[in-house]
Amino acid sequence: MTAPTAAASHRTARAPGALPLLGHAPALVRDPLPFLRSLAGQGDLVELRLGPKRAVLVCSPELFHQVLTDTRHFDKGGPLFDKLRPFLGDGLGSTPHDVHRRQRRQLQPAFRPEAFTRYLAVMREEVLAASAGWRDGAVIEVEQHAYPLIARIITRTMFSADGSSAAVAAIAAAYPDFHQGIGRQMRSPFRLLDRLPTRANRRFRRACRVVGQVVDGAIDARRRGRDTGTERDLLTLMAGEGLTDREMHDQVVTMLTGGIGTSASALGWALHFLSRDEVLADAVAREARAVLPPDTSGRTDRDDGSRPPAALPPLTLADVNRLDLARRVVAETLRYYPSAWFYSRTVTAPVELAGEHLRPGTPVLLSPYLVHHRPDLYPEPELFDVDRWLPERHAGLPRQAYVPFGTGSRKCIGDVYALTEITLAVAVIASRWRLEPPPGPVPRHLVEPRPWTVIHPAPLRLRLHSRA
Ligand code: HEM
Repeated sequence: MTAPTAAASHRTARAPGALPLLGHAPALVRDPLPFLRSLAGQGDLVELRLGPKRAVLVCSPELFHQVLTDTRHFDKGGPLFDKLRPFLGDGLGSTPHDVHRRQRRQLQPAFRPEAFTRYLAVMREEVLAASAGWRDGAVIEVEQHAYPLIARIITRTMFSADGSSAAVAAIAAAYPDFHQGIGRQMRSPFRLLDRLPTRANRRFRRACRVVGQVVDGAIDARRRGRDTGTERDLLTLMAGEGLTDREMHDQVVTMLTGGIGTSASALGWALHFLSRDEVLADAVAREARAVLPPDTSGRTDRDDGSRPPAALPPLTLADVNRLDLARRVVAETLRYYPSAWFYSRTVTAPVELAGEHLRPGTPVLLSPYLVHHRPDLYPEPELFDVDRWLPERHAGLPRQAYVPFGTGSRKCIGDVYALTEITLAVAVIASRWRLEPPPGPVPRHLVEPRPWTVIHPAPLRLRLHSRA
C-alpha cells in the first residue's frame, strides 16, 4: 500500500537534458551548482535519471522537511550516502533509524551547553595560535590555515587532548588528504579508478591509515587510563555507555569527517565574503573589540589603561551570542554556500510524495544549496546580504527554508558547536586582521566554488593587513 502524503498542490516535473545511458549524472558531476539552481524553477519535486536509475530531487522546503522527518518511509541511503558509508562505518551519521535513536542519546551529552566552557577555551586558544604567525602584508591560502585550525579544535575538544599532543598534530596534518580523497571517491564514476596506485590515491590511503591509527591510539590510551583526558569528553562518554572499540572508532571518525571539512570551508567562505566588503569587515572588527575580552579581540589596552591579566578571562556562550553581526555573517555564508550542499535518502516503504508514487529503493536527492537559492524565498539569492538575518527581515521566512544543518532526528548534532567556533574565529580574525584579495588576474568577486563533499572556496588567497 502506498502511504498518502498531505501535500496535494505541489508541482512535479522531469528534468530536461538527460543524456542517453548516463541521464543527468554528468551534469551533476561536472557543474552541479548552476544545474541545481536551474531545477528550482521546474517544480517542487523533479525527476532525474542517474544512469538507468530514476531518482527524485526535492526542491521545496515543505517536501524537504517531509522527507527528513518521515522516518517510516525515508532512511539514510541513496547514491551519495552509499559512497560515503565505507568511510563512516556504523557511526551516528550512517546507521538506520532503529539504531540511530540509541546512539544519538549516548552522544548528545558531548554537545550540551555545560560542555562549552571547555570547548570555548580550546576554540579561543587555537584561533589565537593559528593567526599568531601571520605577518602584515603576507598572502595566505585560506584553507591551508582553516583546515588545521578546525581539525585541532575538534581533536582537542573530543579527546581532551592538550595542544601539544602528537594526536592533534597528526590529525591536523592528515585531514586535508583524507577529506580530499573522500571527495574524489564520491565523484569518481568507477571504483577501479580509486584503486589505481596514483599519487593522490596513495596519499589518501596513507591519510586513512594515520586517522585510523590516531583514533585507535586515543581509544586504547583512554581504556588503559594512560592519557590525561579526565573530562567528560566524547571518549569518556562512550566508554561509560559500554561501546566497543569498533563502535567508538566509527563514532570518532564520523565526528571528524562531519565536523572538519564542513566548518573549515564555511570559515573560508566567511573570510572570503568579508574580504570583499571592507565596511562590513570593519563593523565585524568593531563589534568583536566591543564584545570579546581584550586579549581575544586584539584590543591589548584595557579601558582603564592597565595591562591585561596573564590568564584570559573565561569566554562564555553568551559572549559569542552577543556577536550579532559576526553571527549574521556566518548565517548568510551558510545560506550562500551550505557546506553540506547535497545529500540523499532512500525510500524504505511505498510512499506518495507530491503526488508521485515512489517505490522502495528510489533515491531521494536533497540540496540545501538549491533551497537557499530559490528567488521566491531569498530575493536576489546571488547577493551576499547579512541584513537578511535581521529579525524584521527574516520573520516571514518559512522555518524549513533555511536548512544548513538539516532537520528532524538526523539534524546535525554539532550545529551549535560549529556556529560557535566559526563565529568566534570570524570575529577574532576580523578584529586583528583586514583581509583583502591580492591584486592579480582573478577579479575580486570571482572565487570559484568547488562543490565536492563540501563546497570549497578554492583557491582562496588573501592578503593580510594588521589592524594593530
Ligand atoms: C558548518 C558546519 C556544519 C554543517 C553545515 C553540518 C551539516 C550537517 C548536516 C546537513 C547534517 C545532516 C545530514 C543528513 O541529514 O543526512 C549533519 C549531520 C551530522 N553532523 Fe554536521 N555539520 C557541521 C558541523 C558539524 C560538526 C562540528 C560536527 C561534530 C562536532 C558534526 C557532526 C555531525 C554528525 C555526527 C551528524 C550525523 C547526525 C545524526 O545522524 O544524528 N557536524 N551535519
